Amino acid sequence: MQKFENLLLSLEDAILTITVNRPDKLNALNSQTLDEIEEAIQLAVDNNDVKAMIITGSGEKAFVAGADISELAQLNEMTARGFAEKGQEIFQSIENSTKPVIAAVNGFALGGGCELAMACHIRIATKNVKFGQPEVNLGVIPGYGGTQRMTQLIGKSKALEYMMTGDMIDVNEAYRLGLINHIAEDHDDLMSKSKDILAKIMNKAPLAVGMVIDCVNAVFRSDENGYQTEANSFSNCCKSKDFKEGTQAFLEKRKPEFTGE
Ligand code: COA
Repeated sequence: MQKFENLLLSLEDAILTITVNRPDKLNALNSQTLDEIEEAIQLAVDNNDVKAMIITGSGEKAFVAGADISELAQLNEMTARGFAEKGQEIFQSIENSTKPVIAAVNGFALGGGCELAMACHIRIATKNVKFGQPEVNLGVIPGYGGTQRMTQLIGKSKALEYMMTGDMIDVNEAYRLGLINHIAEDHDDLMSKSKDILAKIMNKAPLAVGMVIDCVNAVFRSDENGYQTEANSFSNCCKSKDFKEGTQAFLEKRKPEFTGE
C-alpha cells in the first residue's frame, strides 16, 4: 500500500481505512494533506481490491479540526477561490464514489473536518465528538461545501443557526439532527460498527449500491431530474448479471453470489 506523509492507509477485508495523521495539529487539513486525500481516494476508486472506505482521524481527540489555519491566514481574494474549489472537488470525489464511504468520527470535526465527514455517505461518531462550522469566528465561511451539505443534512433553520453562531454540535444533538447515523461507545466500537455496516453493504450487488449513491446525490444536482436518473439506473440494473443472479437466487431459495457485473 502506498505511503503518505500525513495519511495512514490500511486495507483489510476489502475496506480501505484512510486515517488523517497529524495528531499534534488535531489532524488539520494543510494543502499537502488535502492533496494526499485526493490521491488516496483516487487510488481507492481505481483499485479493484478496494470495495469500501472508512475515513477517520488519528488519536482520540480529533477527527479533523478544520483547514490548517496557518495556511488559511495566507489566503487573499485571488487565491481563496481556487482553495475553495479544490477542496470542493476533492470532497465531491468522496461523495460521488460509487464505493461506500463511512466517516468514523472520533473527536473534533470542525470546519473542513465537518465538511469532510458530511461528504461521506454515512457518519458514525464517538461520544466525545464536536461537530461545527466555526468559520465565522475567523471572518470567513465554510468553503469546502459546508454551506450546501449541512443544509442538505440538517435543514435550513438549524444549518443557518450553527453556521451563523459557529456553535459546536455534541453527539446527542448531531444524532437528533440526523447529522450522524449512529453513536459508538468508544473507539473500538466506532471501527467495528463502521466495518459491520460496510460488510453488510458489500454483501449486496455493487452496481446497485453505486446507483443508489448516484441517484440520492442526484436529488441535490439542480440541473437534473432525479426521477429520470432513477428510471435510467433501474433499467441499467436490469441488464446486469447481478440482477439475474439476485432474482434467480431468491426464486431458488439460495444466497446470491454477486460479482459486480
Ligand atoms: N489549523 C491549524 N492548527 C490547528 C487547528 C487548525 N484548524 N486546530 C488545532 N490546531 C493546532 C493548535 O494550533 C495546536 O497547535 P500547537 O500545539 O502547535 O499550538 C494544536 O493543534 C492543539 O490544539 P489546541 O487549540 O491547543 O487544543 P485545544 O484542546 O485547546 O482546542 C480546538 C481544541 C479544536 C477547540 C481548537 O484547537 C480549535 O478551535 N481549533 C480550530 C478549529 C477551527 O476553527 N476550525 C475551522 C478552521 S476553518
